[in-house]
Amino acid sequence: MPPGGATRESELMTAIDPTLAIPSGSAKPKEVFADAPTDVDEAVRQDPSAFRILTGDRPTGPLHIGHLFGTLENRVRLQQLGVELLLVIPDYQTITDRDSPASLPEDVEGLVADYLAVGIDPACAVIFTHSHVPELNQLMLPFLSLVTVAELARNPTVKEEIAASKGTATSGLMLTYPVHQAADILFCRANLVPVGKDQLPHIELARTIARRFNDHYSPGQPFFPQPQPLLSAAPLLLGLDGRKMGKSRGNSIPIAADPDQTAQLIRAAKTDRHRHISYDPQHRPEISNLLDIAALCQQRPAADIAEEIGDHGAATLKTIVTDTLNQRMAPIRARRAELIKDRSHLRTVLHHGNERARTIASATLTAVHQHMHTQYLG
Ligand code: TRP
Repeated sequence: MPPGGATRESELMTAIDPTLAIPSGSAKPKEVFADAPTDVDEAVRQDPSAFRILTGDRPTGPLHIGHLFGTLENRVRLQQLGVELLLVIPDYQTITDRDSPASLPEDVEGLVADYLAVGIDPACAVIFTHSHVPELNQLMLPFLSLVTVAELARNPTVKEEIAASKGTATSGLMLTYPVHQAADILFCRANLVPVGKDQLPHIELARTIARRFNDHYSPGQPFFPQPQPLLSAAPLLLGLDGRKMGKSRGNSIPIAADPDQTAQLIRAAKTDRHRHISYDPQHRPEISNLLDIAALCQQRPAADIAEEIGDHGAATLKTIVTDTLNQRMAPIRARRAELIKDRSHLRTVLHHGNERARTIASATLTAVHQHMHTQYLG
């Protein structure tokens, strides 16, 4: 299906026509890996119009190379195959993990610039923010009625986040944001959700809510599809300190970093005592992680790169990683540098995305009202 503004808009609208059959999903969530030759890949190739993808990234800082290789490249690839792509910038989710929202506007614009720089096409993808799509937020209310407090309290990702907040009192939103995330997914009746493993409990909850809504309010003709998670097959990159790579942990290489900053970050990366370079993720995680970065850039096996370096040591490895990464990132960074200069264009992209998301969300909300018999006034 050729990407193109107006046609895509009307396709999105017919796609959410409640009378249309929804794309079928299996009863159990399958763990689908994006880059492996899976059923989904094959199915997407055969009929991209059977899929609608929704995913998003919290605007808590610049996206990094872990995002690029782990998910962004894959989104671009699926978009090029002709799948509808909706990207939520979940600004309401950041209320749970930041004290001061002052940098939010800048973070949101930076995220839009990252998306466009890596190749997301705003003429066909819908890029929007929670805060500007009231009808999406309104789905939270009926959805909350479909889950129990016990279910919310045992969500492993939420439990980890609560543990990481070191004794701070847990807010109602912390416990219920996964229900809001279900609204992100279901408002556009997405059936494919590319995410990292930590998000699987949230997708499971969205599936539960979809199923319970259907059973309760539209038995016989399911209204919401059962969304499926799509996991990336790319190796999970570690931070340069050997811990989990995180936007706000200061251990990542941002997409927007310049070549000198990149060199500096890699120079400071943790390695080990052995001069001989070998690829052994289990016993030599830091060295192997650097090799993974080079391998992703050069698109060849990490073990081959290790063998070539052999006894030349970590300094040589770091030079290779820096050079290949800077080379690989150069066109993306050049595009991003242009994009970030034009804030009004970034805002226009968001305005347009928010408007399109609102049209979709209102249609869904109207249908939900009809199913729930709350459409008193016609
Ligand atoms: N919770 C996700 C994260 O922390 C972001 C997110 C919000 C999301 N809504 C979503 C991801 C819907 C997938 C689908 O990164």
